[in-house]
Amino acid sequence: MSLSGRPRIAVLHGVNLDQLGRRDPALYGSLTLPELEARIVQEAWEQGMQADCFQTNHEGAFVERLHGLRGAAEGILLNPGAWTHYAWAIRDALEIAALPAVEVHLSDPQAREPFRHLSVIADLCFATVKGLGPDGYAQALVKLRERLEES
Ligand code: DQA
Repeated sequence: MSLSGRPRIAVLHGVNLDQLGRRDPALYGSLTLPELEARIVQEAWEQGMQADCFQTNHEGAFVERLHGLRGAAEGILLNPGAWTHYAWAIRDALEIAALPAVEVHLSDPQAREPFRHLSVIADLCFATVKGLGPDGYAQALVKLRERLEES
């Protein structure tokens, strides 16, 4: 818990998500990553939680962030970008983190190229929210809050 007694939600964005705002708005919306993160922090706060946002283009840094979460967060909301589809080391690190996690995608990978259909983290996440653009993060936060309230 945070000092204010709120559950801490680690929000992790992976490779190329720092380029939001320059990427195809039809797929990803027009918010920049700082704008999206500000929305997530605000929505989490309104739901009684504290979100802590992180982004990297380096797989090892993403893995090490996950390693550090035990005892530092109560839940995880992650969008690993293209790593979702092949980064088995990120899957292993998520398993080591052993926290309730929700997978989020701005677009719907299932409706896109076949190489995006596999998610190597899906079965470690208790829910997936996809294809809703930035609004999907609010839904993911609701799911996390409900899960944390149950436990
Ligand atoms: C994404 C979907 C991935 O397939 C893609 O590589 C991304 C973004 C999404 O949020 O829709 O970088 O994770």
